[in-house]
Amino acid sequence: MAFAALIAVTALVGITRAAPTAVCPDGTRVNNAVCCAFIPLAQDLQSTVFMNDCGEDAHEAIRLTFHDAVAISRSQGPKAGGGADGSMLLFPTVEPNFSANNGIDDSVNNLIPFMAKHPTISAGDLVQFAGAVALSNCPGAPRLEFLAGRPNHTIAAIDGLIPEPQDSVTKILERFEDAGGFTPFEVVSLLASHTVARADKVDETIDAAPFDSTPFTFDTQVFLEVLLKGVDFPGTDNNTGEVASPLPKGSGNDTGEMRLQSDFALARDERTACFWQGFVNQQEFMSSSFKAAMSKLAILGHNRASLIDCSDVVPIPKPAVNKPASFPATTGPKDLELTCKLERFPTLTVDHGATQTLIPHCSNGGQDCPAIQFDGPA
Ligand code: HEM
Repeated sequence: MAFAALIAVTALVGITRAAPTAVCPDGTRVNNAVCCAFIPLAQDLQSTVFMNDCGEDAHEAIRLTFHDAVAISRSQGPKAGGGADGSMLLFPTVEPNFSANNGIDDSVNNLIPFMAKHPTISAGDLVQFAGAVALSNCPGAPRLEFLAGRPNHTIAAIDGLIPEPQDSVTKILERFEDAGGFTPFEVVSLLASHTVARADKVDETIDAAPFDSTPFTFDTQVFLEVLLKGVDFPGTDNNTGEVASPLPKGSGNDTGEMRLQSDFALARDERTACFWQGFVNQQEFMSSSFKAAMSKLAILGHNRASLIDCSDVVPIPKPAVNKPASFPATTGPKDLELTCKLERFPTLTVDHGATQTLIPHCSNGGQDCPAIQFDGPA
């Protein structure tokens, strides 16, 4: 009886600790008064850059969280880079110029004005918070954890720390291990990000080439489509880091699907193939695994205990579209290239159509939606 009472008291203390302790000027109750500054920042980001949309500018901000954070090395020590420290924004003429960061300047220039508009928020917090806000616009995405308190005092990272699509699986796994002890499962989990992604720089002849047929929803299609046999390239062939995709035919603003060599290899390598396949049609599992790995990525270079939990100011994501994964028209189970022997592949439907379905250029299904891109030093 006494033991049960103790458990009840312990549970109550837990609840009390988690309960909001501050009220912000707009009336929102938050975990800590420090978190209040992020409420107007979220509104500002949404109305000035993201437009509440999981479009180009949101995608770029999500990519930036990774490129800022992974620039840290346990083997090379603190002089290599400070991890999730905002160094991309603080040294905009250094890191964005590294070849692995090609295209990152759009997101850097989009975020730099917010440092002056929201001066109490550090560059490292801004990068990770902007990514969490951007992701909340993508239906099916998890509500990311957000911890505040990364200091502005840092250095520019050295070149060579960002994984590239032409890297071998061994090199990629070693880089993630060296950056923050990521396991192969966590690496695959982080690549759920490529479900809301399009490439501008891998093939310079085409813009916004999507990695799956649903680039505006955080669904599991990318894990299915990367497993399909590649047939051709959406633009030119022989680009570094690109391999043939299963849906290369576009029309107008739809370039056709692009496939990264790194995604292709991770989906088939014996160390990662079962993790990759295991996310197909497993929306909740994929989403929660991505969230857990992002919690680790977002604080690289920092001590979790020294940061303040402001997750309650991250907007609640748009709900999932709840459409099961399906083979895009013109593809089917016969095109699967499976190397994972441990798991049975799920039974999925095939979309109807004799020709390849057009991939929309905009989240509203249309083909014309300009991105907001500010000029800046990067
Ligand atoms: C093996 C690791 C990875 C490699 C080699 C890789 C490589 C790439 C490449 C080459 C692009 C296209 C860039 C362009 O041409 O515009 C891209 C886009 C993107 N990546 Fe990754 N990536 C990796 C991991 C990640 C991770 C961990 C995240 C986030 C957590 C991420 C998020 C994104 C996003 C959101 C885009 C789309 C950007 C846009 O649409 O503008 N990537 N990635």
